[in-house]
Amino acid sequence: MSDNKNTTPASNDVKLGRRQLLAGGLATGGIAAATTIAAAASDPLITEVQDWNRYLGDGVDASPYGKPSEYEKDTVRRNVAWLTADTQSSINFTPLHKLDGIITPNGVCFERHHGGVAVIDPADHRLMINGLVDNPIVFTMDDIMRFPRENRTYFLECAANSGMEWRGSQLNGCQFTHGMVHNCMYTGVPLKYILAEAGIKTAGKWLLAEGADASAMSRSIPLDKALDDCMVAFKMNGESLRPEQGYPLRLVVPGWEGNMWIKWLRRLEIGDKAWYQREETSKYTDLMENGIARSFTWAMDVKSVITNPSPQAPITHGKGRTVLTGLAWSGHGKISRVDVTIDGGRNWKTARLDGPSFSRSLHRFYYDFDWDGSELFVQSRAIDDQGNVQPTKDQLRAARGVSSIYHNNGIQTWQINPDGSAENVEIS
Ligand code: MTE
Ligand code: CO
Repeated sequence: MSDNKNTTPASNDVKLGRRQLLAGGLATGGIAAATTIAAAASDPLITEVQDWNRYLGDGVDASPYGKPSEYEKDTVRRNVAWLTADTQSSINFTPLHKLDGIITPNGVCFERHHGGVAVIDPADHRLMINGLVDNPIVFTMDDIMRFPRENRTYFLECAANSGMEWRGSQLNGCQFTHGMVHNCMYTGVPLKYILAEAGIKTAGKWLLAEGADASAMSRSIPLDKALDDCMVAFKMNGESLRPEQGYPLRLVVPGWEGNMWIKWLRRLEIGDKAWYQREETSKYTDLMENGIARSFTWAMDVKSVITNPSPQAPITHGKGRTVLTGLAWSGHGKISRVDVTIDGGRNWKTARLDGPSFSRSLHRFYYDFDWDGSELFVQSRAIDDQGNVQPTKDQLRAARGVSSIYHNNGIQTWQINPDGSAENVEIS
């Protein structure tokens, strides 16, 4: 008797708890209608024992490195065939619409090469420091590995990301409009430790970073930036850099345009002025309406994009509860707020930021809403902790004209159709 008395209130509590949970769920809009147990009685996936349940699975040796599920074969880098004449001096794009969180898995980080992927045995790799230094020096990879290391998460965005959209909406998918960005945790050595070993002469004001690939990519970087937060990285997301990301050594230039992040880094020269290399004169300068090019636009400005729904990721579940999500980033600091509109800018709501917030890293935002099945025009607008606000494309064009291809951080619009499909459009 007494046992029963004791258990009855407890089981009531459990029931009450479940009811409260359900009520809580409904109060926030409810979860999209799932199948009831009764309806599932006719579903063979519920009533029958499936093969994966009946037979033993693969053994531990099936995939020594590991690879994604065969059902994820669409989560891949893609290129745009007409964009470049060959595949060595080419670009492919991160499948942003297939990812979540803030880290870009190594296998899908976009690639940009000007002379193909250099394949270098780390035992054959050297990093030379010369120019205005007391002690010109050459490091092996073993030498580099003896400096104190740091771990930092940063986005890398190519200056030409969204470059094809300057004159109007063109490419149908955030992979193509915004996929020249990736976000990794780098392990490496602060550049200041390595340069201190060589001893910078007082006349030194600039640093030239040079790659060992066929393009010998080289860029001038002000010494203040180099000594502030640049790194020489050998790991990305915990494992060695991929060959396409500059194995065995790349320069990390937080917040600044991707072109400066020299891959296969082989030489650092200290000088008293910029070198004005090809990639900082005829390329990676912003041509203004008056025909004069703006030089050295280093920082990547505040930007965001809705990754789902988007043209490659339509809404497939019909009306009701819908998760809208996207990415925001700024080369000037952290993201402090992202606003979202689903009606083309008439009403803006503050999105929910989730996940770690690092300076000059991607940030993940969500806006959960009830879709009534009507046409939508979705946009996101990011604001960083320095007060920078992402501009509209029209505001950008008013300031910069349409002759540039670089540094397009304008607000992106996706039109969502009643059938859930999405298109790249512009509204003004
Ligand atoms: N470094 C070398 N040595 N060669 C290159 O072609 N491309 C640059 C930069 N560093 C390049 C390079 C450009 S334009 C960009 S956007 C980034 O590397 C791309 O880095 P990722 O391939 O890791 O995405
Ligand atoms: Co680039």
